[in-house]
Amino acid sequence: MCCCLIIDFLPCVFLNGHVDVQFPDKLCMGANFVCIGGHKLVESNGMGFLQILHLVASYCTSYINNCTAGNSATEPYIVAHHLLLSHAAAVKLYKDNYQAAQNGKIGMVIATYWMTPKYSTIVSRKVASRAFDFQFGWFAHPSTYGDYPKSMRRYVGERLPKFTKAQSEALKGSRDYTGVNYYTARYVDKSASPFTTLNLSYTTDCHCNITIEKDGIPISQPTAAEWLYIYPKGIRELMHYVKKNYQDPTIYVIENGMADANNKSLPLKDALTDRLRISYFQLHFSNLSKAIEEGVNVKGYFAWSFLDDFEWVEGYTTRYGLVFVDYGNELKRYMKHSACWFQSFLQKDNATVNYSLRSDA
Ligand SMILES: *[C@@H]1O[C@H](CO)[C@@H](O)[C@H](O)[C@H]1NC(C)=O
Ligand SMILES: *[C@@H]1O[C@H](CO)[C@@H](O)[C@H](O)[C@H]1NC(C)=O
Ligand SMILES: *[C@@H]1O[C@H](CO)[C@@H](O)[C@H](O)[C@H]1NC(C)=O
Ligand SMILES: *[C@@H]1O[C@H](CO)[C@@H](O)[C@H](O)[C@H]1NC(C)=O
Ligand SMILES: *[C@@H]1O[C@H](CO)[C@@H](O)[C@H](O)[C@H]1NC(C)=O
Ligand SMILES: *[C@@H]1O[C@H](CO)[C@@H](O)[C@H](O)[C@H]1NC(C)=O
Ligand SMILES: *[C@@H]1O[C@H](CO)[C@@H](O)[C@H](O)[C@H]1NC(C)=O
Repeated sequence: MCCCLIIDFLPCVFLNGHVDVQFPDKLCMGANFVCIGGHKLVESNGMGFLQILHLVASYCTSYINNCTAGNSATEPYIVAHHLLLSHAAAVKLYKDNYQAAQNGKIGMVIATYWMTPKYSTIVSRKVASRAFDFQFGWFAHPSTYGDYPKSMRRYVGERLPKFTKAQSEALKGSRDYTGVNYYTARYVDKSASPFTTLNLSYTTDCHCNITIEKDGIPISQPTAAEWLYIYPKGIRELMHYVKKNYQDPTIYVIENGMADANNKSLPLKDALTDRLRISYFQLHFSNLSKAIEEGVNVKGYFAWSFLDDFEWVEGYTTRYGLVFVDYGNELKRYMKHSACWFQSFLQKDNATVNYSLRSDA
């Protein structure tokens, strides 16, 4: 069970955006290894992690956060460009020197929302697809087709770096598998802000209005993490979207899960009764399983997280674990109900569960 649930995140091989090919050991130290059925999956770099870094880059400029050092109009694209180049170099290095001996697979993990059109209009659908280009396609498109999505070329223009022919060839098809981190979804509609050349940034270039509500009603059930609304059917739609647009890749869901609040006054017994998490997994699994039945090539799945953890900017305020960690008592661990459910799910041919989302909130 544990082998299937643990994945760690370490940024790796690039130094200022360049792979240092003289030090292949760094690849081994830095890349993420995941074992599945005795095979080794190598992640060229923690894209999910690095997406956060270039997002941070987009928040530093004179017109965002009064930050004199940065340029939000160009830097996120430069960072991502070098990530992609380092990915291509890492893949080449691995394929040339290690793959045959290790019998491993090398890929890329991309974190994304499912982008659902806010209204069932042609415009909403087009914009949702563009929002997906700006988040997922930004990395998936070059590593499939050798260039950025057309929509990004069109909306970012000269600020989007260009690949040389050799770079483009090296990127094309540079994934044995596609890793996807999926937690939640958003509504997308076109932005009402006028087109302008002032205050340009990655966050506005898409001209997409990405929201969690429509007419005041949230997209789905909220959780203790304010960004995470439970939207299980999104995983099925996302899998189909990736299959259709990126040449039917082998997909691993590398992260999926949800948070409860870390509530110190909640008795342990209640903290371990995490029905909502069981529903979350059950509904995501049934939707994922449906996608597989429908022909999407999904080969593996990882829950986030095995243990409660220090979670990015949420710190210890949220708990994502299947296993509870008692921070005040030498980090003693307790299986939550979801861990037991997960265990029996893995042991049975047909696991059923009888929780519905809203009644257990
Ligand atoms: C650009 O940013 C500056 C500084 O934050 C702000 O005063 C100005 O209104 C912004 N202009 C536009 C068109 O958003
Ligand atoms: C922006 O930063 C400058 C220099 O640190 C400071 O003098 C100024 O008051 C800041 N402006 C705002 C609106 O915070
Ligand atoms: C985005 O949509 C919200 C409604 O959900 C609206 O209040 C807001 O003004 C819109 N923003 C832009 C930039 O279109
Ligand atoms: C997928 O999830 C939705 C909730 O988003 C749920 O209503 C539906 O039953 C699930 N579909 C399948 C095939 O399990
Ligand atoms: C924390 O748990 C206590 C005890 O069940 C409850 O009364 C309280 O509302 C909870 N606080 C939050 C913020 O959920
Ligand atoms: C599992 O469920 C499917 C569909 O409900 C059924 O056809 C199959 O016989 C079940 N298998 C077992 C071992 O119970
Ligand atoms: C789920 O619970 C309901 C009532 O609580 C019951 O009627 C139903 O048979 C249960 N279904 C399963 C699959 O256990």
